[in-house]
Amino acid sequence: MSEENVILVLADGSKVTLPVLGGSVGPKVIDVRKLYAQSGMFTFDPGFMSTASCKSAITYIDGDQGELLYRGYPIEQLAEKCSYLDVCYLLLNGELPDTTSSSQFKNLVSHHTMVNEQMLFFLRGFRRDAHPMAVLTGLVGAMSAFYHDSIDINNAEHRHVSAIRLIAKMPTLVALAYKYGVGQPFMYPKNHLSHAGNFLYMMFGTPCEDYIVNPVFEKALDRIFTLHADHEQNASTSTVRLCGSSGTNPFAAIAAGVACLWGPAHGGANEACLNMLNDICQKGGVSYIPTFINAIKENKDVKLMGFGHRVYKNYDPRARLMQQTCYEVLAQLDSQSDPLFQVAQALEKIALEDEYFIKRKLYPNVDFYSGIVLRALGIPTKLFTGIFALSRTVGWIAQLNEMISDEDYKIGRPRQLFVGSPRRDMDELQIPENAVH
Ligand code: CMC
Repeated sequence: MSEENVILVLADGSKVTLPVLGGSVGPKVIDVRKLYAQSGMFTFDPGFMSTASCKSAITYIDGDQGELLYRGYPIEQLAEKCSYLDVCYLLLNGELPDTTSSSQFKNLVSHHTMVNEQMLFFLRGFRRDAHPMAVLTGLVGAMSAFYHDSIDINNAEHRHVSAIRLIAKMPTLVALAYKYGVGQPFMYPKNHLSHAGNFLYMMFGTPCEDYIVNPVFEKALDRIFTLHADHEQNASTSTVRLCGSSGTNPFAAIAAGVACLWGPAHGGANEACLNMLNDICQKGGVSYIPTFINAIKENKDVKLMGFGHRVYKNYDPRARLMQQTCYEVLAQLDSQSDPLFQVAQALEKIALEDEYFIKRKLYPNVDFYSGIVLRALGIPTKLFTGIFALSRTVGWIAQLNEMISDEDYKIGRPRQLFVGSPRRDMDELQIPENAVH
Protein backbone atom coordinates (compact mmCIF):
# COMPACT_ATOMS: atom_id res chain seq x y z
CA MET A 1 0.00 0.00 0.00
CA SER A 2 1.35 3.44 -0.91
CA GLU A 3 1.35 5.97 1.91
CA GLU A 4 0.78 9.72 2.02
CA ASN A 5 -1.01 11.91 4.59
CA VAL A 6 -3.91 14.30 4.79
CA ILE A 7 -3.82 17.07 7.37
CA LEU A 8 -7.07 18.25 8.91
CA VAL A 9 -7.06 21.72 10.44
CA LEU A 10 -9.61 21.82 13.27
CA ALA A 11 -11.66 24.87 14.34
CA ASP A 12 -9.20 25.65 17.17
CA GLY A 13 -6.30 25.69 14.71
CA SER A 14 -4.85 22.35 15.85
CA LYS A 15 -3.88 19.84 13.18
CA VAL A 16 -4.58 16.14 12.79
CA THR A 17 -2.43 14.10 10.43
CA LEU A 18 -4.06 11.02 8.94
CA PRO A 19 -2.42 8.46 6.63
CA VAL A 20 -3.83 7.87 3.14
CA LEU A 21 -3.77 4.25 2.00
CA GLY A 22 -3.85 3.17 -1.62
CA GLY A 23 -5.07 -0.19 -2.85
CA SER A 24 -4.12 -1.91 -6.13
CA VAL A 25 -6.94 -0.15 -8.05
CA GLY A 26 -9.79 2.13 -7.04
CA PRO A 27 -10.06 5.17 -4.80
CA LYS A 28 -7.57 5.73 -1.98
CA VAL A 29 -8.84 5.78 1.60
CA ILE A 30 -8.13 8.06 4.54
CA ASP A 31 -7.18 5.93 7.52
CA VAL A 32 -9.24 7.46 10.34
CA ARG A 33 -8.41 4.86 13.00
CA LYS A 34 -6.41 7.37 15.05
CA LEU A 35 -8.84 10.27 14.45
CA TYR A 36 -10.69 9.92 17.76
CA ALA A 37 -7.46 9.65 19.75
CA GLN A 38 -6.07 12.77 18.07
CA SER A 39 -9.20 14.94 17.85
CA GLY A 40 -11.90 13.52 20.14
CA MET A 41 -14.19 13.29 17.09
CA PHE A 42 -15.72 10.41 15.15
CA THR A 43 -16.59 10.30 11.46
CA PHE A 44 -20.31 10.26 10.57
CA ASP A 45 -21.38 8.18 7.57
CA PRO A 46 -24.84 6.55 7.81
CA GLY A 47 -25.27 3.96 5.07
CA PHE A 48 -21.46 3.86 4.61
CA MET A 49 -21.62 6.24 1.64
CA SER A 50 -17.91 7.11 1.95
CA THR A 51 -16.54 4.44 4.22
CA ALA A 52 -14.37 1.44 3.38
CA SER A 53 -15.13 -0.97 6.22
CA CYS A 54 -12.23 -3.33 5.50
CA LYS A 55 -9.50 -4.16 3.04
CA SER A 56 -10.27 -6.98 0.65
CA ALA A 57 -8.62 -8.76 -2.27
CA ILE A 58 -11.67 -10.69 -3.45
CA THR A 59 -14.02 -8.60 -5.59
CA TYR A 60 -13.54 -5.24 -7.25
CA ILE A 61 -16.30 -3.05 -8.71
CA ASP A 62 -15.76 0.07 -10.79
CA GLY A 63 -19.25 1.52 -10.57
CA ASP A 64 -18.63 4.31 -13.08
CA GLN A 65 -17.28 1.95 -15.73
CA GLY A 66 -19.75 -0.84 -14.94
CA GLU A 67 -16.92 -3.28 -14.27
CA LEU A 68 -16.99 -6.29 -11.93
CA LEU A 69 -13.90 -8.43 -11.23
CA TYR A 70 -13.64 -11.57 -9.11
CA ARG A 71 -9.98 -11.92 -8.02
CA GLY A 72 -9.08 -9.73 -11.01
CA TYR A 73 -11.03 -11.65 -13.67
CA PRO A 74 -13.89 -9.82 -15.45
CA ILE A 75 -17.31 -11.29 -14.73
CA GLU A 76 -18.02 -11.55 -18.48
CA GLN A 77 -15.06 -13.92 -18.96
CA LEU A 78 -15.87 -16.00 -15.91
CA ALA A 79 -19.54 -16.29 -16.89
CA GLU A 80 -18.54 -17.39 -20.38
CA LYS A 81 -15.67 -19.77 -19.60
CA CYS A 82 -16.04 -21.18 -16.10
CA SER A 83 -18.49 -23.26 -14.14
CA TYR A 84 -19.88 -21.89 -10.89
CA LEU A 85 -17.84 -24.34 -8.81
CA ASP A 86 -14.63 -23.17 -10.50
CA VAL A 87 -15.68 -19.63 -9.59
CA CYS A 88 -16.25 -20.81 -6.00
CA TYR A 89 -12.72 -22.23 -5.95
CA LEU A 90 -11.40 -18.93 -7.31
CA LEU A 91 -13.21 -16.84 -4.70
CA LEU A 92 -12.09 -19.08 -1.85
CA ASN A 93 -8.50 -19.67 -2.94
CA GLY A 94 -7.55 -16.64 -5.02
CA GLU A 95 -6.70 -18.58 -8.22
CA LEU A 96 -8.69 -20.56 -10.75
CA PRO A 97 -8.22 -24.32 -10.34
CA ASP A 98 -6.21 -26.43 -12.78
CA THR A 99 -7.95 -29.51 -14.20
CA THR A 100 -7.01 -31.74 -11.26
CA SER A 101 -7.96 -29.23 -8.55
CA SER A 102 -11.19 -28.48 -10.40
CA SER A 103 -12.33 -32.10 -10.44
CA GLN A 104 -11.15 -32.66 -6.83
CA PHE A 105 -13.12 -29.62 -5.67
CA LYS A 106 -16.25 -30.68 -7.57
CA ASN A 107 -15.93 -34.17 -6.14
CA LEU A 108 -15.54 -32.79 -2.62
CA VAL A 109 -18.58 -30.52 -2.90
CA SER A 110 -20.76 -33.19 -4.50
CA HIS A 111 -19.98 -35.55 -1.59
CA HIS A 112 -21.35 -33.08 0.98
CA THR A 113 -24.71 -32.30 -0.63
CA MET A 114 -26.87 -34.44 1.67
CA VAL A 115 -28.07 -32.88 4.90
CA ASN A 116 -28.32 -34.62 8.25
CA GLU A 117 -31.60 -36.56 8.17
CA GLN A 118 -32.55 -34.94 11.49
CA MET A 119 -32.73 -31.58 9.68
CA LEU A 120 -35.93 -32.83 8.01
CA PHE A 121 -37.67 -32.97 11.39
CA PHE A 122 -36.54 -29.43 12.05
CA LEU A 123 -37.90 -28.38 8.64
CA ARG A 124 -41.24 -30.02 9.39
CA GLY A 125 -41.70 -27.66 12.32
CA PHE A 126 -42.34 -24.80 9.89
CA ARG A 127 -45.76 -23.91 8.54
CA ARG A 128 -46.18 -25.10 4.95
CA ASP A 129 -46.87 -21.55 3.80
CA ALA A 130 -43.76 -20.06 5.46
CA HIS A 131 -41.69 -17.84 3.17
CA PRO A 132 -38.69 -19.88 1.90
CA MET A 133 -36.31 -17.18 3.18
CA ALA A 134 -37.75 -17.58 6.69
CA VAL A 135 -37.20 -21.33 6.39
CA LEU A 136 -33.70 -20.86 4.97
CA THR A 137 -32.65 -18.45 7.71
CA GLY A 138 -33.74 -21.02 10.27
CA LEU A 139 -32.18 -24.02 8.51
CA VAL A 140 -28.80 -22.37 7.95
CA GLY A 141 -28.65 -21.20 11.57
CA ALA A 142 -29.63 -24.71 12.69
CA MET A 143 -26.69 -26.23 10.82
CA SER A 144 -24.43 -25.16 13.71
CA ALA A 145 -26.41 -27.58 15.87
CA PHE A 146 -26.15 -30.41 13.35
CA TYR A 147 -22.50 -30.00 12.33
CA HIS A 148 -20.91 -28.91 15.58
CA ASP A 149 -17.57 -30.45 14.67
CA SER A 150 -16.85 -27.42 12.44
CA ILE A 151 -18.04 -24.36 14.34
CA ASP A 152 -14.78 -22.84 15.60
CA ILE A 153 -14.39 -19.77 13.39
CA ASN A 154 -10.78 -19.32 14.53
CA ASN A 155 -9.79 -22.79 13.32
CA ALA A 156 -8.85 -22.78 9.60
CA GLU A 157 -9.72 -26.47 9.20
CA HIS A 158 -13.16 -25.92 10.75
CA ARG A 159 -13.71 -22.96 8.44
CA HIS A 160 -12.74 -25.05 5.40
CA VAL A 161 -15.05 -27.91 6.37
CA SER A 162 -17.96 -25.57 7.07
CA ALA A 163 -17.29 -23.72 3.77
CA ILE A 164 -17.60 -26.94 1.77
CA ARG A 165 -20.66 -27.98 3.76
CA LEU A 166 -22.38 -24.66 3.20
CA ILE A 167 -21.66 -24.49 -0.55
CA ALA A 168 -22.73 -28.11 -1.00
CA LYS A 169 -25.82 -28.08 1.21
CA MET A 170 -27.37 -24.70 0.39
CA PRO A 171 -28.96 -25.96 -2.87
CA THR A 172 -30.32 -28.96 -0.95
CA LEU A 173 -31.80 -26.67 1.72
CA VAL A 174 -33.43 -24.38 -0.87
CA ALA A 175 -34.90 -27.40 -2.69
CA LEU A 176 -36.11 -28.85 0.63
CA ALA A 177 -37.83 -25.55 1.48
CA TYR A 178 -39.55 -25.66 -1.94
CA LYS A 179 -40.62 -29.30 -1.77
CA TYR A 180 -41.92 -28.82 1.76
CA GLY A 181 -44.00 -25.84 0.64
CA VAL A 182 -45.60 -27.72 -2.26
CA GLY A 183 -46.03 -30.93 -0.29
CA GLN A 184 -43.92 -33.14 -2.58
CA PRO A 185 -41.41 -35.77 -1.43
CA PHE A 186 -37.87 -34.54 -0.85
CA MET A 187 -35.39 -35.67 -3.50
CA TYR A 188 -31.93 -36.75 -2.36
CA PRO A 189 -29.05 -35.18 -4.31
CA LYS A 190 -27.45 -37.07 -7.20
CA ASN A 191 -23.67 -36.83 -7.15
CA HIS A 192 -23.13 -37.44 -10.86
CA LEU A 193 -25.01 -34.26 -11.78
CA SER A 194 -23.46 -30.80 -11.97
CA HIS A 195 -24.08 -28.32 -9.14
CA ALA A 196 -26.83 -26.56 -11.16
CA GLY A 197 -28.15 -29.81 -12.68
CA ASN A 198 -28.43 -31.38 -9.24
CA PHE A 199 -30.36 -28.38 -7.96
CA LEU A 200 -32.83 -28.62 -10.87
CA TYR A 201 -33.19 -32.34 -10.16
CA MET A 202 -33.86 -31.78 -6.43
CA MET A 203 -36.39 -29.06 -7.30
CA PHE A 204 -38.31 -30.64 -10.14
CA GLY A 205 -37.58 -34.37 -9.99
CA THR A 206 -40.10 -36.72 -8.36
CA PRO A 207 -39.76 -40.39 -7.38
CA CYS A 208 -42.43 -41.20 -10.01
CA GLU A 209 -40.36 -40.68 -13.14
CA ASP A 210 -36.84 -40.02 -14.43
CA TYR A 211 -35.80 -36.38 -14.54
CA ILE A 212 -33.64 -35.31 -17.48
CA VAL A 213 -31.73 -32.08 -16.88
CA ASN A 214 -32.24 -29.58 -19.72
CA PRO A 215 -28.71 -28.38 -20.67
CA VAL A 216 -29.89 -24.86 -21.57
CA PHE A 217 -31.58 -24.49 -18.20
CA GLU A 218 -28.56 -25.98 -16.45
CA LYS A 219 -26.23 -23.47 -18.14
CA ALA A 220 -28.60 -20.58 -17.35
CA LEU A 221 -28.80 -21.53 -13.69
CA ASP A 222 -25.05 -22.01 -13.43
CA ARG A 223 -24.64 -18.50 -14.84
CA ILE A 224 -27.14 -17.09 -12.34
CA PHE A 225 -25.09 -18.71 -9.56
CA THR A 226 -21.86 -17.20 -10.95
CA LEU A 227 -23.29 -13.70 -11.40
CA HIS A 228 -24.46 -13.65 -7.78
CA ALA A 229 -21.40 -15.32 -6.24
CA ASP A 230 -19.86 -12.21 -4.68
CA HIS A 231 -20.26 -8.44 -4.78
CA GLU A 232 -17.74 -6.94 -2.35
CA GLN A 233 -19.03 -5.19 0.79
CA ASN A 234 -22.80 -5.19 0.09
CA ALA A 235 -25.32 -5.23 2.97
CA SER A 236 -25.47 -9.00 3.50
CA THR A 237 -21.71 -9.48 3.18
CA SER A 238 -21.09 -6.66 5.64
CA THR A 239 -23.66 -8.32 7.91
CA VAL A 240 -21.79 -11.63 7.71
CA ARG A 241 -18.50 -9.88 8.49
CA LEU A 242 -19.97 -7.93 11.41
CA CYS A 243 -21.74 -10.99 12.79
CA GLY A 244 -18.64 -13.17 12.36
CA SER A 245 -16.42 -10.53 13.93
CA SER A 246 -17.74 -11.46 17.37
CA GLY A 247 -16.28 -14.94 16.88
CA THR A 248 -19.66 -16.61 16.38
CA ASN A 249 -19.75 -19.82 14.36
CA PRO A 250 -19.75 -19.74 10.51
CA PHE A 251 -23.29 -21.13 10.16
CA ALA A 252 -24.70 -18.42 12.45
CA ALA A 253 -22.83 -15.72 10.52
CA ILE A 254 -24.12 -17.01 7.17
CA ALA A 255 -27.67 -17.21 8.59
CA ALA A 256 -27.36 -13.50 9.42
CA GLY A 257 -26.36 -12.88 5.78
CA VAL A 258 -29.43 -14.80 4.56
CA ALA A 259 -31.66 -12.68 6.81
CA CYS A 260 -30.17 -9.45 5.51
CA LEU A 261 -30.38 -10.56 1.88
CA TRP A 262 -34.13 -11.11 2.20
CA GLY A 263 -34.94 -7.37 2.15
CA PRO A 264 -36.41 -5.88 -1.07
CA ALA A 265 -33.65 -3.26 -1.37
CA HIS A 266 -31.12 -6.13 -1.59
CA GLY A 267 -31.67 -9.77 -2.63
CA GLY A 268 -35.44 -9.50 -2.32
CA ALA A 269 -35.40 -7.16 -5.33
CA ASN A 270 -35.65 -10.05 -7.83
CA GLU A 271 -38.93 -11.16 -6.27
CA ALA A 272 -40.16 -7.56 -6.02
CA CYS A 273 -39.13 -6.93 -9.64
CA LEU A 274 -41.10 -9.86 -10.98
CA ASN A 275 -44.14 -8.83 -8.93
CA MET A 276 -43.79 -5.34 -10.41
CA LEU A 277 -43.60 -6.69 -13.99
CA ASN A 278 -46.64 -8.90 -13.35
CA ASP A 279 -48.53 -5.92 -11.99
CA ILE A 280 -47.70 -3.82 -15.06
CA CYS A 281 -48.81 -6.69 -17.34
CA GLN A 282 -52.11 -6.96 -15.51
CA LYS A 283 -52.73 -3.22 -15.75
CA GLY A 284 -52.28 -3.07 -19.52
CA GLY A 285 -48.70 -4.13 -20.27
CA VAL A 286 -46.47 -1.85 -22.34
CA SER A 287 -49.21 0.81 -22.64
CA TYR A 288 -49.29 1.13 -18.81
CA ILE A 289 -45.55 1.89 -18.53
CA PRO A 290 -45.83 5.72 -18.85
CA THR A 291 -48.39 5.76 -16.00
CA PHE A 292 -46.04 3.65 -13.88
CA ILE A 293 -43.05 5.89 -14.64
CA ASN A 294 -45.12 8.93 -13.61
CA ALA A 295 -46.07 7.19 -10.37
CA ILE A 296 -42.35 6.77 -9.61
CA LYS A 297 -41.70 10.45 -10.22
CA GLU A 298 -44.62 11.51 -8.03
CA ASN A 299 -43.98 9.18 -5.11
CA LYS A 300 -40.50 8.49 -3.75
CA ASP A 301 -41.70 5.24 -2.22
CA VAL A 302 -42.49 3.77 -5.65
CA LYS A 303 -39.30 2.35 -7.13
CA LEU A 304 -38.50 0.78 -10.44
CA MET A 305 -37.35 -2.52 -8.98
CA GLY A 306 -34.26 -4.00 -10.60
CA PHE A 307 -32.98 -0.50 -11.31
CA GLY A 308 -30.38 1.54 -9.45
CA HIS A 309 -27.41 0.53 -7.36
CA ARG A 310 -25.33 2.08 -4.61
CA VAL A 311 -22.11 1.39 -6.51
CA TYR A 312 -23.00 1.09 -10.21
CA LYS A 313 -23.65 4.46 -11.80
CA ASN A 314 -23.56 2.73 -15.18
CA TYR A 315 -25.04 -0.48 -16.62
CA ASP A 316 -24.53 -3.37 -14.18
CA PRO A 317 -22.46 -5.87 -16.23
CA ARG A 318 -24.43 -8.70 -14.64
CA ALA A 319 -27.68 -7.29 -16.06
CA ARG A 320 -26.28 -7.47 -19.59
CA LEU A 321 -25.25 -11.12 -19.13
CA MET A 322 -28.58 -11.91 -17.56
CA GLN A 323 -30.42 -10.35 -20.49
CA GLN A 324 -28.45 -12.61 -22.86
CA THR A 325 -29.36 -15.66 -20.74
CA CYS A 326 -32.98 -14.51 -20.83
CA TYR A 327 -32.94 -14.67 -24.65
CA GLU A 328 -31.37 -18.16 -24.59
CA VAL A 329 -33.84 -19.61 -22.10
CA LEU A 330 -36.92 -18.06 -23.71
CA ALA A 331 -35.74 -19.27 -27.14
CA GLN A 332 -35.40 -22.80 -25.74
CA LEU A 333 -38.98 -22.56 -24.49
CA ASP A 334 -40.07 -20.98 -27.76
CA SER A 335 -41.56 -18.09 -25.80
CA GLN A 336 -39.60 -15.03 -26.90
CA SER A 337 -42.94 -13.21 -26.90
CA ASP A 338 -43.26 -13.77 -23.15
CA PRO A 339 -45.32 -10.73 -22.04
CA LEU A 340 -43.15 -10.11 -18.99
CA PHE A 341 -40.00 -10.04 -21.12
CA GLN A 342 -41.70 -7.66 -23.57
CA VAL A 343 -42.68 -5.36 -20.71
CA ALA A 344 -39.19 -5.55 -19.16
CA GLN A 345 -37.49 -4.62 -22.44
CA ALA A 346 -39.91 -1.75 -23.12
CA LEU A 347 -39.57 -0.55 -19.52
CA GLU A 348 -35.78 -0.59 -19.72
CA LYS A 349 -35.79 1.37 -22.98
CA ILE A 350 -38.21 4.00 -21.70
CA ALA A 351 -36.39 4.39 -18.37
CA LEU A 352 -32.96 4.70 -19.99
CA GLU A 353 -34.25 7.59 -22.12
CA ASP A 354 -36.10 9.33 -19.29
CA GLU A 355 -34.55 12.40 -17.66
CA TYR A 356 -35.46 11.21 -14.13
CA PHE A 357 -33.38 8.05 -14.49
CA ILE A 358 -30.58 9.64 -16.55
CA LYS A 359 -30.07 12.41 -13.97
CA ARG A 360 -29.83 9.92 -11.11
CA LYS A 361 -27.69 7.46 -13.09
CA LEU A 362 -30.18 4.65 -12.62
CA TYR A 363 -29.49 1.60 -14.80
CA PRO A 364 -30.76 -1.98 -14.74
CA ASN A 365 -29.12 -4.14 -12.10
CA VAL A 366 -28.75 -7.93 -11.95
CA ASP A 367 -32.27 -8.37 -10.64
CA PHE A 368 -34.01 -6.75 -13.58
CA TYR A 369 -33.80 -9.83 -15.81
CA SER A 370 -32.92 -12.61 -13.34
CA GLY A 371 -36.55 -13.00 -12.24
CA ILE A 372 -37.72 -13.59 -15.82
CA VAL A 373 -35.08 -16.30 -16.28
CA LEU A 374 -35.89 -17.96 -12.96
CA ARG A 375 -39.60 -17.89 -13.72
CA ALA A 376 -38.95 -19.43 -17.15
CA LEU A 377 -37.00 -22.22 -15.41
CA GLY A 378 -40.13 -22.93 -13.37
CA ILE A 379 -38.84 -21.49 -10.11
CA PRO A 380 -41.61 -19.85 -8.07
CA THR A 381 -41.21 -16.15 -7.30
CA LYS A 382 -40.97 -16.69 -3.55
CA LEU A 383 -37.88 -18.82 -4.06
CA PHE A 384 -35.91 -16.26 -6.10
CA THR A 385 -34.09 -14.78 -3.13
CA GLY A 386 -33.26 -18.28 -1.94
CA ILE A 387 -31.44 -18.85 -5.27
CA PHE A 388 -29.54 -15.61 -4.67
CA ALA A 389 -28.65 -16.81 -1.15
CA LEU A 390 -27.31 -20.17 -2.31
CA SER A 391 -25.20 -18.43 -4.97
CA ARG A 392 -23.86 -15.75 -2.59
CA THR A 393 -22.95 -18.21 0.18
CA VAL A 394 -19.48 -18.71 -1.30
CA GLY A 395 -18.88 -14.95 -1.34
CA TRP A 396 -19.97 -14.65 2.28
CA ILE A 397 -17.62 -17.46 3.29
CA ALA A 398 -14.68 -16.10 1.30
CA GLN A 399 -15.18 -12.68 2.90
CA LEU A 400 -15.54 -14.18 6.37
CA ASN A 401 -12.33 -16.20 5.93
CA GLU A 402 -10.52 -13.13 4.67
CA MET A 403 -11.65 -11.12 7.69
CA ILE A 404 -10.55 -13.77 10.20
CA SER A 405 -7.12 -14.01 8.55
CA ASP A 406 -6.65 -10.21 8.45
CA GLU A 407 -4.03 -8.93 10.91
CA ASP A 408 -6.21 -5.82 11.45
CA TYR A 409 -9.27 -7.90 12.33
CA LYS A 410 -11.25 -6.61 15.32
CA ILE A 411 -14.82 -7.03 16.47
CA GLY A 412 -16.95 -4.58 14.46
CA ARG A 413 -18.23 -1.85 16.73
CA PRO A 414 -19.41 1.40 15.08
CA ARG A 415 -19.87 4.56 17.17
CA GLN A 416 -22.76 7.03 16.98
CA LEU A 417 -23.77 10.66 16.99
CA PHE A 418 -25.99 10.74 20.07
CA VAL A 419 -29.06 12.98 19.72
CA GLY A 420 -31.12 11.83 22.71
CA SER A 421 -31.55 13.38 26.11
CA PRO A 422 -28.38 14.15 28.07
CA ARG A 423 -28.23 12.78 31.63
CA ARG A 424 -31.27 13.66 33.73
CA ASP A 425 -32.40 12.50 37.17
CA MET A 426 -35.56 10.64 38.04
CA ASP A 427 -35.80 12.67 41.28
CA GLU A 428 -37.34 15.46 39.21
CA LEU A 429 -40.26 13.20 38.16
CA GLN A 430 -43.57 12.93 40.02
CA ILE A 431 -43.79 9.12 40.18
CA PRO A 432 -46.97 7.77 41.81
CA GLU A 433 -46.01 5.85 44.95
CA ASN A 434 -47.55 2.51 43.90
CA ALA A 435 -45.85 2.58 40.45
CA VAL A 436 -42.62 1.04 41.80
CA HIS A 437 -44.28 -2.24 42.80
N1 CMC B 1 -36.49 3.66 -8.94
C1 CMC B 1 -36.74 4.98 -8.82
N2 CMC B 1 -35.94 5.87 -8.21
C2 CMC B 1 -34.81 5.39 -7.68
C3 CMC B 1 -34.45 4.02 -7.76
C4 CMC B 1 -35.34 3.16 -8.42
N3 CMC B 1 -35.08 1.84 -8.52
N4 CMC B 1 -33.27 3.82 -7.14
C5 CMC B 1 -32.89 5.02 -6.68
N5 CMC B 1 -33.83 5.97 -7.01
C6 CMC B 1 -33.73 7.41 -6.75
C7 CMC B 1 -33.95 7.72 -5.28
O1 CMC B 1 -35.31 7.96 -4.98
C8 CMC B 1 -33.07 8.94 -5.11
O2 CMC B 1 -33.78 10.03 -5.68
P1 CMC B 1 -33.54 11.55 -5.10
O3 CMC B 1 -32.11 11.88 -5.42
O4 CMC B 1 -34.53 12.38 -5.81
O5 CMC B 1 -33.78 11.47 -3.62
C9 CMC B 1 -31.87 8.68 -6.03
O6 CMC B 1 -32.40 7.79 -7.05
C10 CMC B 1 -30.70 8.01 -5.33
O7 CMC B 1 -31.16 6.81 -4.75
P2 CMC B 1 -30.75 6.28 -3.30
O8 CMC B 1 -31.90 5.49 -2.75
O9 CMC B 1 -30.21 7.40 -2.50
O10 CMC B 1 -29.57 5.33 -3.71
P3 CMC B 1 -28.99 4.20 -2.80
O11 CMC B 1 -27.62 3.99 -3.27
O12 CMC B 1 -29.18 4.49 -1.36
O13 CMC B 1 -29.92 2.92 -3.14
C11 CMC B 1 -30.75 0.96 -4.11
C12 CMC B 1 -29.56 1.90 -3.99
C13 CMC B 1 -30.33 -0.31 -4.82
C14 CMC B 1 -31.25 0.54 -2.70
C15 CMC B 1 -31.89 1.68 -4.86
O14 CMC B 1 -31.44 2.04 -6.16
C16 CMC B 1 -33.15 0.82 -4.97
O15 CMC B 1 -33.94 0.80 -4.03
N6 CMC B 1 -33.35 0.11 -6.13
C17 CMC B 1 -34.47 -0.77 -6.29
C18 CMC B 1 -34.23 -2.08 -5.57
C19 CMC B 1 -33.23 -2.95 -6.31
O16 CMC B 1 -33.34 -3.17 -7.50
N7 CMC B 1 -32.27 -3.50 -5.54
C20 CMC B 1 -31.31 -4.44 -6.07
C21 CMC B 1 -29.90 -3.94 -6.01
S1 CMC B 1 -28.79 -5.00 -6.96
C22 CMC B 1 -28.82 -6.52 -6.17
C23 CMC B 1 -28.21 -6.46 -4.81
O17 CMC B 1 -27.06 -6.02 -4.68
O18 CMC B 1 -28.86 -6.90 -3.88
